[in-house]
Amino acid sequence: MKVLIGYASAHGSTAEVAHAIGRVLLENDIQVKVADVRTVGTVEEFDAFILGSAVHAGTWLPEMSSFLKGYHDQFLGKPIYLFVTCIRVMEQHGFDHVMEYYMIPELLTKLNIQDKIAFAGKLKLEEVDWNERWTLAARYDGATWPSTLTGDFRDWEKIRGWAAKIVENLQIPTRSDAP
Ligand SMILES: Cc1cc2nc3c(=O)[nH]c(=O)nc-3n(C[C@H](O)[C@H](O)[C@H](O)COP(=O)(O)O)c2cc1C
Repeated sequence: MKVLIGYASAHGSTAEVAHAIGRVLLENDIQVKVADVRTVGTVEEFDAFILGSAVHAGTWLPEMSSFLKGYHDQFLGKPIYLFVTCIRVMEQHGFDHVMEYYMIPELLTKLNIQDKIAFAGKLKLEEVDWNERWTLAARYDGATWPSTLTGDFRDWEKIRGWAAKIVENLQIPTRSDAP
């Protein structure tokens, strides 16, 4: 079993989440490749996919949408687990909002999505340039002013727990594995 953990990350924190998930799979003897989706040339060699994106302006980073569209025919019904990192999820009813509005259903309905989740991410305004600050201020759709949601909110226990659930799920034999 070989799993691609592909990420789209503007400031590196989603990449770190992808690597943390990768470590959980490795600890369970699952072969993984963790990579920026922009660098992935082919997906044929993988049996399953864990794909994660930061959210900008209420949606995934464009490279993740392009990756899913570009490889759509080559996923061949293989299991896909999807995560996003964002700040909206920390607001009241934020998880439901993210699941409903940030997830691009027209892309996902055509794929074998086994699970999807939103994690609280990391936002350090001092590391964000002025163009991005304007985008964030103008397009953030929560009730809270986004500058009050700065910090590193990643919950590593939750992230590792989700990865452990994927390990269990991947190891469930399918009908075709049965003797
Ligand atoms: C320009 C910009 C726009 C963002 N827009 C949103 C948004 O619309 N909704 C949201 O919940 N989080 C938004 N965020 C927060 C990021 O999704 C979050 O900080 C994420 O964890 C960053 O991941 P990264 O370090 O991999 O880029 C935005 C951040 C930036 C810098």
